[in-house]
Amino acid sequence: MKFAIITGASKGLGESIAKRLLQEQITVISVSRTENKQLSKLAMEKGIDYKHISCNLSLEKEIQEVFMEVAHCIFEKNPTEILLFNNAGVIEPIQKVGNLDQTPIIRNIKVNLIAPILITNLFLSNAHLTNTKVTVINVTSGAAVRSIEGWSVYCSSKAGLNMFTQTAAIEQAELKTDNTIIGFSPGVMDTNMQETIRSSSKDAFNELDKFKEYKEKNLLLETDAVASALVNLVLRGNPESGKVYHIKELLNP
Ligand SMILES: NC(=O)c1ccc[n+]([C@@H]2O[C@H](COP(=O)([O-])OP(=O)(O)OC[C@H]3O[C@@H](n4cnc5c(N)ncnc54)[C@H](OP(=O)(O)O)[C@@H]3O)[C@@H](O)[C@H]2O)c1
Repeated sequence: MKFAIITGASKGLGESIAKRLLQEQITVISVSRTENKQLSKLAMEKGIDYKHISCNLSLEKEIQEVFMEVAHCIFEKNPTEILLFNNAGVIEPIQKVGNLDQTPIIRNIKVNLIAPILITNLFLSNAHLTNTKVTVINVTSGAAVRSIEGWSVYCSSKAGLNMFTQTAAIEQAELKTDNTIIGFSPGVMDTNMQETIRSSSKDAFNELDKFKEYKEKNLLLETDAVASALVNLVLRGNPESGKVYHIKELLNP
């Protein structure tokens, strides 16, 4: 039996990944601060196990407590494979360096980078002890490889996530495990994160007009289509460990 853990499944891309996995009859554990009731309804209709666990991923003590418990519950069921989607993310602070406040800087790095590192470490440790296959999907961004003025913290956290992904994959290959760890860059999607971007100030973010135009011209990707392409890759595409996939190559192979 396969289990999936998805961080940030309450909305946006995470919600679409959860819906798609439930349709694939895979047990889903959703972790975020708020609960999406539609997911439990869908799981009930499909007769699939689903659980939401509340956790603030900017608090490392909560991460440790919640994921120790999640790992314990899953690994003792002898799963055939565990899929870990480190999807939760925050864009803020949108501001130029020199005008940044300390609290959102630290929150961004904790949610976007430290949480995926802590959770992946915990799951790979349990995978090693129990000989269970784990596939980790770290949701990154084009901003990891392109400097965007006003997004220095976001660019840095996602660049760090790419490097963590690639390094952990090399280590797993060296250890000759079955585990796979990939990055996934989903493209510009119509989610709350884009609303936050559009509500930023032009002084802080030079590309504001371009991002407003994406919405006006209907150029934003739908999360269901992005999630579908990702889940197909993970379940049937034999993903290459260490690679950072971009949605473009999955939609236009
Ligand atoms: N949208 C885009 O255009 C775009 C482009 C490139 C990459 N991405 C990446 O794609 C991923 C999903 O983004 P999205 O656009 O779907 O974002 P979104 O709609 O803003 O959703 C963000 C998710 O992260 C969770 N989250 C945020 N802070 C959290 C915290 N402190 N603790 C626990 N959960 C937290 C939220 O859950 P709660 O609020 O319930 O806690 C929510 O489920 C992110 O990693 C993002 O960086 C997005």
